[in-house]
Amino acid sequence: MQPEGPAAPKSWTIGSLVKWATDDFRARGIENPRLDAELLVAHALKIDRMRVILDANRPLEGVELATLRDLVKRRRAYEPIAYLRGEREFYGLKFRVDKRVLVPRPDTETLVDAALTRSAHVSMSMRQLDLCTGSGCVAVAMAKQRPTAKVFGSDISPDALVVARDNALRLGAYNVAFVESDLFAAFAGKRFDVITANPPYIASGDIASLMPDVRDHEPRLALDGGDDGLVIVRRIVHDAPSHLAPGGVLAIEIGAGEAPATVALFETGGFADVRVHRDIARIERVVSGVLPVR
Ligand SMILES: C[S@@+](CC[C@H](N)C(=O)[O-])C[C@H]1O[C@@H](n2cnc3c(N)ncnc32)[C@H](O)[C@@H]1O
Repeated sequence: MQPEGPAAPKSWTIGSLVKWATDDFRARGIENPRLDAELLVAHALKIDRMRVILDANRPLEGVELATLRDLVKRRRAYEPIAYLRGEREFYGLKFRVDKRVLVPRPDTETLVDAALTRSAHVSMSMRQLDLCTGSGCVAVAMAKQRPTAKVFGSDISPDALVVARDNALRLGAYNVAFVESDLFAAFAGKRFDVITANPPYIASGDIASLMPDVRDHEPRLALDGGDDGLVIVRRIVHDAPSHLAPGGVLAIEIGAGEAPATVALFETGGFADVRVHRDIARIERVVSGVLPVR
């Protein structure tokens, strides 16, 4: 298919294309080469992954090969599979994603779980603010789980908000609205029952050593958490008390190893009942706390 790749067969079938792309991706150190190859073929042919396996002997037509050539080329350059397919599942919902937004991660479902658990007592008219909303995955998942709540998603990136609004509309989350804002700047005088955030939390100096999929393709604005990774986290914890109703909950996603410093920020910031929530890999992923009723 590509001159510099493994030897290409004379005529292509689904199976031979999957094998060829798998070998090629593996040689480039791509993590799940076979899965990626199957997902790209399924996407290009608009079939599900099971059909890719069952119809391995089906020959590929010229137009299909051209589409696949383009997709394989992009994956070879480490473009994330989610951008190539244009979607990623999060909390059981299919979100549209492209290079304007971070690809939603399964780890971030821990943030939704923590926010739902800790706000179980809040009235049906719960007001939530999801800072750093990106694709809107957290805001939309919360809005779908709590249809009577009013959810605001905000981001400093107007491009990300275009994607977030499209996701909310397509997924029928009509109780969520998106606002462009540098953290709390657009919410002066407003208070919420729940504030969630998955902010950028990678230390600036660690970005160069990230996987190329992330480092070279996902928005830098979504990754860079400043010198120690906690610059934005610190701003959120500092300003959240003046935007929470008494008894309100703040929940923030953080990187591996950042929990102790974040717990200390919550405690010195006046939060009570501070908890750490682990993700599916048992990594300390979310810190939450309650603004005491005075
Ligand atoms: C790690 S991504 C999270 C996206 C999404 N919530 C998720 O979980 O997939 C962080 C987001 O924070 C936004 N961001 C960065 N700095 C910001 C700031 N000062 N104010 C508001 N949003 C900011 C970025 O544009 C990016 O969309």
